[in-house]
Amino acid sequence: MKRVLSTIVVTTSLVFAGVALTGAALAADVAVAKPDAAKGEQLYANGDMARGVLACASCHGAAGNSAIPVNPNLSGLAHEYIAKQLLDFQPKGDKAPLRRGQGGVDTIMTSMAAPLTPEDIQNIAYYLSQQPLDLKTAATATNEATMDRGQLIWRAGLTDRAVPACAACHSANGAGIPGEFPRLAGQHPEYLVEQLQIFRSGDRANAEMMSDIAGRLSDKDIAAVADYAAGLR
Ligand code: HEC
Ligand code: HEC
Repeated sequence: MKRVLSTIVVTTSLVFAGVALTGAALAADVAVAKPDAAKGEQLYANGDMARGVLACASCHGAAGNSAIPVNPNLSGLAHEYIAKQLLDFQPKGDKAPLRRGQGGVDTIMTSMAAPLTPEDIQNIAYYLSQQPLDLKTAATATNEATMDRGQLIWRAGLTDRAVPACAACHSANGAGIPGEFPRLAGQHPEYLVEQLQIFRSGDRANAEMMSDIAGRLSDKDIAAVADYAAGLR
């Protein structure tokens, strides 16, 4: 009896092993290759003229630390967030991209993202997600006069207008939660203002919850909270 049982056990585990192998082989066929940070870095730093990919570093700075306020820092952002944005800059079939610029027109990034393959996107996003925000060059808050208002919106929200506290999602220190909520701390306030404005107008239509929230903020409040968020560490 004992022998029979153990035979059954062995046979069954062989069957399971067979199933597991088939499963693994199938997964390998469909899965995208593991992102390659070295390829991502190469494309980010130098572009690929033959394919019409411009060097991202020429606008977003070395390792994603941008010295130009209208071009966002990409360092310190999560892999999933960066990949999602690059996909959202691309048109989907005959539909316009979800992420457009002021007035519903293409942004600079529409043509930058167009030649990128899904693999390029994964590689660049993976590379950038490993680059820390450079605290020496990161943006800071500069407007003393609006600091209190910015802090109030960040920490408590505006109850009278049903604006939730930004900190609830983007975290108290603005570092965000990788894979869910992007970092805002150290980001250029000019860029943050623009994004809140286009969430509000619907030209950036890739996050309904942010459009809802920005829709309840005045221009003054947008400026105050953007400046405050930039200065968080
Ligand atoms: C000519 C300047 C320029 C170049 C080159 C450029 N970008 Fe951008 N990028 C911008 C600007 C400006 C924005 C803000 C876009 C907006 O407001 O819609 C931006 C936004 C982004 C964002 C969104 C960031 C966020 O926080 O949501 C990502 C991701 C990005 N760029 C990645 C890239 C990659 C990858 C490349 C290279 C393939 C690249 N960019 C090349 C100017 C540039
Ligand atoms: C319920 C969660 C939640 C709250 C609360 C919230 N956000 Fe966001 N926010 C998000 C998510 C999710 C995204 C990413 C959207 C995407 O995928 O494009 C985002 C993106 C942003 C961006 C764009 C960042 C970039 O790099 O382009 C800005 C700016 C922003 N939020 C500002 C704010 C401010 C200011 C507040 C408070 C008034 C706030 N958020 C409150 C969830 C939230």
